[in-house]
Amino acid sequence: MAPTLLSITTLLSLSVIHAVASSVWTLNCAPLLQARLDPIKQPGVWPSSHVHAVVGSTAFAQHMIGVSSGKATTCDKATDHSNYWSPTLYHMRSDGQYDLLPFTGMVAYYQNYTCSHSSMNPGYCPSTPRDAQAFPPGLRMLAGDSDRRTLNKTDQWQQAILLESGNNGEVYGMPPRLDGSRISGHVRFPSCWDGKNLDSPDHKSHMAYPDPVLHGDTQGGMCPLSHPVALLNIGAEFGWSLNGITDPGSLVFANGDTTGYGFHADFFMGWENPTALQDSFANCMTNDNCPWRKFGSPTGMDPNPISQTPDVLPPLENIGLSGPVGKLPGNNAVFKGHSKRYARGV
Ligand SMILES: *[C@@H]1O[C@H](CO)[C@@H](O)[C@H](O)[C@H]1NC(C)=O
Ligand SMILES: *[C@@H]1O[C@H](CO)[C@@H](O)[C@H](O)[C@H]1NC(C)=O
Repeated sequence: MAPTLLSITTLLSLSVIHAVASSVWTLNCAPLLQARLDPIKQPGVWPSSHVHAVVGSTAFAQHMIGVSSGKATTCDKATDHSNYWSPTLYHMRSDGQYDLLPFTGMVAYYQNYTCSHSSMNPGYCPSTPRDAQAFPPGLRMLAGDSDRRTLNKTDQWQQAILLESGNNGEVYGMPPRLDGSRISGHVRFPSCWDGKNLDSPDHKSHMAYPDPVLHGDTQGGMCPLSHPVALLNIGAEFGWSLNGITDPGSLVFANGDTTGYGFHADFFMGWENPTALQDSFANCMTNDNCPWRKFGSPTGMDPNPISQTPDVLPPLENIGLSGPVGKLPGNNAVFKGHSKRYARGV
């Protein structure tokens, strides 16, 4: 994660004041499935426009509309029955076919860095305490824009989308160098809620990022008046193995995006015990050693996330799991304009 001024400030204050609670913990999730399903943008529809890489609750299915109640989860916190998904990634071969790259799962950083709007004290959001709330049951949201192929760095919704290969640093758009081993797509979900709607027609407008005028950035700060309620802040990182591929120009996301600016992700809230989620930061002095107990790990240790079989198997389609495919599933056009691809990120 690229440290922002806010997180550096928070880390500094954590290191000098030992009594404060930790404000980040990590969720690790194994892959669940890859399929053309999107129960937020295209509920009840198969096939959706492009192949998604999905982690989390085994309830994930095209008809999933209520709060999910899956049999199991691919995440290491047993009570997290949420789903998280992004477009998956292909390699364009010299023979014109497409190899599906191995999806390795998702790591998400849960942070308590956002504070609710205060008209009494606009702009005052001390590094601790924040007052983020657990997600309301049934919340759905989308970060990023599948149709985007250019970059506007002053737009917070675009600042929230970054890619990284190996440990070469996060950049906007497709990384200029690939390390040949792995690439990840990073999405910072919005953490300010309008306090009323669990979803909205574009799946975004019921949510917002902390207000830049009130010292907010995508990672934290004070919420705007329009979306006054601070929720937990999720930074999600979806990963793929590169199998030795080093040419960034040979990668294409399942939506046809070669720029990386169209990377996006969805969150479908399914935490089974919102109270445990609400308490997850309380009295935890160091990163990560508390949530395991609070989320029901019998040993108090970090269990390994494990792959699971979906409760309802997705419809069969050859998306490339057993060899190259002749076109992107959905016949999505591969974007050819590369002029801004190498714009540097943070
Ligand atoms: C965030 O931290 C504050 C105190 O620092 C606490 O009151 C609040 O419950 C925390 N939120 C969550 C969701 O843990
Ligand atoms: C870039 O984003 C900012 C903030 O959302 C917006 O005000 C501006 O109009 C955008 N610029 C372009 C060229 O779209």
